[in-house]
Amino acid sequence: MNFKDLVEQRISTTHFDPNFKITDKDFLEILELTRFTPSGYNAQPWEFLLIQDSERLQKVYKIGLNQQKILDAGNIVIVLGNTAFGRTGTEEILKNWADYREFDKDKLSSLKASLEKERDNWKEREMTLRNVSLAAMSFLLSAESLGFATCPMMGFKQFELIKFLELPKNIIPVMMITLGKPHPEKTQPEKMPKKEAQAIGMKEGYGKRFF
Ligand SMILES: Cc1cc2nc3c(=O)[nH]c(=O)nc-3n(C[C@H](O)[C@H](O)[C@H](O)COP(=O)(O)O)c2cc1C
Repeated sequence: MNFKDLVEQRISTTHFDPNFKITDKDFLEILELTRFTPSGYNAQPWEFLLIQDSERLQKVYKIGLNQQKILDAGNIVIVLGNTAFGRTGTEEILKNWADYREFDKDKLSSLKASLEKERDNWKEREMTLRNVSLAAMSFLLSAESLGFATCPMMGFKQFELIKFLELPKNIIPVMMITLGKPHPEKTQPEKMPKKEAQAIGMKEGYGKRFF
C-alpha cells in the first residue's frame, strides 16, 4: 500500500472485534516500523505498554471514562514518555552521535550539557510530549499498514492511570491507543471530514499561512 492510500484509509475505529487478541509477534512487528520515528537528540524517549488481561482492562476502562472501545478492542496500548531522558539515556545518546555523526569533543560536550540541562518540569514534559506524540502517530500508521485497527485516545484520567500503572515520576502517559481488528459485522461510522489544504493568507514578514 502506498503512503497516500494508507493515510486516506486510516480511521479512528469505533467498533472493534471483541474476540481478537494481538500476539506479541504481531505487536513487535508494529513496533519494528514505529521505531523509525524521529526524536530530538535521537533520544527515542518512548515505551509502549500492552494491556490485554481482562481484569486490568476493566480498570483501564474505568480510568478511560468508560469508553466501550477499550473493552471491545481487547488490546490497549499505553504510550509512555520518559521526561528524564536527558539524564537517564545520556551515554547511549552521546555514543550514537560520536559514532554516526563523528562529533568531536567540543560538540559532544555541548550536546551533553544540553541533554543534562536543568529544565522546568513543564519544559521536560513538553519535550517528551512532542517526541512521543510523533511515535504514537507512527504507531497508528504502522498498525494500519499491517492490517490492524486503532483509535488514539486522550480521554483518560491521567493521575489515576499513573497510580494504576505505578509509574515513576519521570514516566508520563502520553496517549492511550485501542488496538485490534474492526468488528466483522458492525458498520463503522463515516470518515470524519478533513479540511482541504489551501493558502489562507499572509502576514507581512512572517510567511504564507496554510489550512
Ligand atoms: C490526541 C487525540 C486524542 C483522542 N482522544 C480520543 C478519545 O478519548 N476517544 C475517542 O473515541 N477518540 C479519540 N480520538 C480520536 C479522534 O476523535 C479522531 O482522531 C478524530 O475524530 C478524527 O477521526 P480520524 O482519526 O478517523 O481521522 C483522539 C484523537 C487524538 C489525536
